[in-house]
Order: sequence, then structure tokens, then C-alpha cells
Amino acid sequence: MSKNVLSITDQRTGQQYEIPIENGAINAMRLREIKVDENDFGLMSYDPGFKNTASTKSTITFLDGGKGILRYRGYPIEELAANSTFLETAYLLLFNKLPNEAELKQFVHDVKHHTMLHENTKKFMEGFRYDAHSMGMLVSTLASLSTFYPKAKNIHDPEKRKLQMIRLLGKMPTIAAYAFRHTLGMPFNYPDNEYSYTGNFLQMMFRMTEKKYEVNPILERALDVLFILHADHEQNCSTTTMRVVGSSNADPYVAAASAAAGLYGPLHGGANEMVLRMLREIGSVKNIANHIKRVKSGEIRLMGFGHRVYKNYDPRAKIIKNIADQVFEVTGRNPLLDIALELERIALNDEYFINKKLYPNVDFYSGIIYEALNLPVEMFPVLFAIGRMAGWLAQWEEGLLDKEQAIARPRQLFLGDEKRTYVPISKR
Ligand code: CMC
Repeated sequence: MSKNVLSITDQRTGQQYEIPIENGAINAMRLREIKVDENDFGLMSYDPGFKNTASTKSTITFLDGGKGILRYRGYPIEELAANSTFLETAYLLLFNKLPNEAELKQFVHDVKHHTMLHENTKKFMEGFRYDAHSMGMLVSTLASLSTFYPKAKNIHDPEKRKLQMIRLLGKMPTIAAYAFRHTLGMPFNYPDNEYSYTGNFLQMMFRMTEKKYEVNPILERALDVLFILHADHEQNCSTTTMRVVGSSNADPYVAAASAAAGLYGPLHGGANEMVLRMLREIGSVKNIANHIKRVKSGEIRLMGFGHRVYKNYDPRAKIIKNIADQVFEVTGRNPLLDIALELERIALNDEYFINKKLYPNVDFYSGIIYEALNLPVEMFPVLFAIGRMAGWLAQWEEGLLDKEQAIARPRQLFLGDEKRTYVPISKR
């Protein structure tokens, strides 16, 4: 008869242990019962990069990397991308249900009500060097918001928590647009709540001398869908950072700043920037073969390919490829697209990539779209962060309300020196 139990025999002692299996996992603390003697600390599991460690139970995002499935709160990403808006999706992630008309109207109103930044935040941003990376500006400005909202420390008060979450969603596009305008040396455009969330972002980015910026509805929708696609992706590096920092009961602004820092890296949200740099470096379809050769020799990685959990085509990449076509009808075709398409075609037919199950990920095409929108590469991860803020906040709150959670504090396997005696510098 099958039992949901893992039987372990410790060959060191001959002892047998029965550990219950729940939801396809064992509780790691049960391993501590496995000891050679009373003084033994107990067995630990060793898992650098948390490749096989579930750090939490969650009801937010379901992801099956083998089958290429992604669902937010049960809704397939394809259906949300086709029918939802970013703010509706953010509501879904935060409150675990699709809002009715009145709820959505109120939510959109509330988020828009918090799009303005304190004038001192503006001054703070003006202090960055002219060539400051947009992600550096985002990370620091998010952290600085903590000083403007000291009540955000009341993380156990549901109303205060909700207010900060709405504020963070509202202020993200404004911080992002200010970072962009700073790089251009252009005056900042204040939020205009007559636009949609994404339309307002576009006007803050691109309005010049005209009184009213005309938002192109195709580009507005494309960007909104990109925000939806990036909104959550369960326990990735930045989300884990959000939860880890949140687990110390830090306020959500500093936690979000840490999450954004995690996203900055080229192996995570910085990958779309790296994809574009790579496509530019390749420069022409005729240079692709040589680039693939370098990838296969292990010299470089094919940016925008591969994923820790997707061992199949990233479902978001499929949707983005379609959006790219719509965007290029407005902006004209980006010549880098031809290089990307050919690179993808070759990689998908090459043994190296097939055997390692390396498929295009979300970042492979998003960068080409952002470039078509006239955005510099430094802004790419910032756009990723605008969408991901919804997921960070939902995951942060879920972590706080989870009674099984505790401050994140992993163990280590200490392999350093035993006790040594300090030697004065003159004797070394
Ligand atoms: N190009 C060439 N080889 C690769 C690539 C790649 N992009 N990705 C993985 N591999 C190889 C790797 O060399 C390794 O080979 P071997 O087994 O011979 O040592 C094998 O595939 C497994 O790689 P890994 O690094 O152990 O896999 P991982 O799950 O730790 O890494 C990854 C996942 C996303 C960091 C990695 O695939 C990568 O570096 N990709 C390029 C960067 C990128 O596009 N990142 C964006 C990820 S999607 C956006 C997001 O969610 O943040």
C-alpha cells in the first residue's frame, strides 16, 4: 500500500526514519532528527541557489516549466494578456479575485490618486549624475520613499499595508519616467490622471512642448500587456529578495528597493538589456554562426535564452513575439528583429540548445520592443520592475500573513579553518 511517507535509513547508524511527504515535499526541519549521536546538530540539506527548496507555500502564481504553463491566481497568462489590463491583473494578484466594475473603478482611482511624488523626491532624483543608470535611480528612490512614509513601518496594520501597496503601484511609473527624463536632461512631466495608468506613463516619458500628449493606443496596449506578462513569476530572485527582506519586518519601500536591486542583475531583469547589447554586437545575420560557436564553447551565454524553471518555450515569450509585430506596424520594423529571429531559428534546431532545453525567455523579445519605443537599454529593467511591483507586493503580503513563515535565515556548511590564534602584525 502506498503511503505519503519517505523512509530513510541512515547507513552511519543503521537508524530508520519516517518523514511525511506533504504537497510533494518533506519538511526540512524533520531532517534534523537524523543524527549520529546526541551532540550532532542533525542533518541539513545543501542547496546553493535554492534549486530544489520550496521556501514558502503560495496561492499566487502557478508555473509548470516543463509544460510552459503560467497562471496568476488560476487565470492563464494568455487569457489575461488578451483580455485584462495591468491594473486589473494587479488587483487579481493582490486580492485573489477579478474585481467587479465598481471595485476596479475604485482601485484604478486609488492607484492614480498616488501617482504624484513629493517634490523633495524630485529634487533627490535631480541629484543623480547625468549618466546614472536608471535602475540605480529606481533602487535608491524606492528606498528613499521609506523616509517619506514612516507609518509604512506599521506592516501589521492591514489598512496601512494596503495604502503603501497602492502608493508603490501608483508611484512606480512616475519614478521610472523621472529617471528617463533625468537621463535626457529634460524637465520632468507631472502625472496626468486623465490618461490610463500606462498612457500616463507614456506621457510622463515622452511629452515635450505639446499641451496634451497623444498616446498611441497600440503602443499603450502593448506596454500594458508587457506589464501584465511581467507582473509575477513566483519565487524568482527579486521576489525572494522581497520576501526575505520583508521577513525581517522591514517596510515595503526598502523591501521593494532590495527586490529591484535583485532584478537589476544581468541574469534576472537585466537580461533584456543584455539581449539588446548582444544583438547589437552581433550586428548582422552573417555573424550569427560565429556567435553561436562562442556560446557553445562556453565562452559566452546566449542572452534571453534559458530559464531556471522553463525547460520549454516561455509562454510569455510567445505572447511578446505577437506584440512585437503589432508594435512594429506603428514604429517600423527594428532591424535587430531579423537577427533575433534567425538566432532563435538556429538555436531551436541546434543539438546544444535542444539537449540543454534552452528556449527563448521573456527577455528575448521584450528588449526589441522597448527599443522600438525609443527607450535606452538602461530603462529596460525599469519597465520590467513596473510590472513586477504588483507581484512583489502580493508575495510580500502573503509572506507576512503566513503563520508558518519566520525571518529568513539559512544555514551554512562551514568549511573554513578551525580555531586559530591571532598573530600580531609584526610577527606575520
Ligand atoms: N546560453 C548558453 N548556455 C546556457 C544558457 C545560455 N543562455 N543558459 C544555460 N546554459 C547552459 C549552462 O552553461 C549549463 O550548461 P552545463 O550543464 O553544461 O554546465 C546548463 O545550460 C544549465 O545552466 P544553469 O546556469 O545551471 O541554469 P540555471 O537554471 O542556473 O540558469 C539562467 C538559468 C536564466 C540564469 C540561465 O539560463 C542564463 O544565464 N540565461 C541567460 C540570461 C537570461 O536570459 N536571463 C533571463 C531569465 S528570464 C527573466 C527572469 O525571469 O529574470
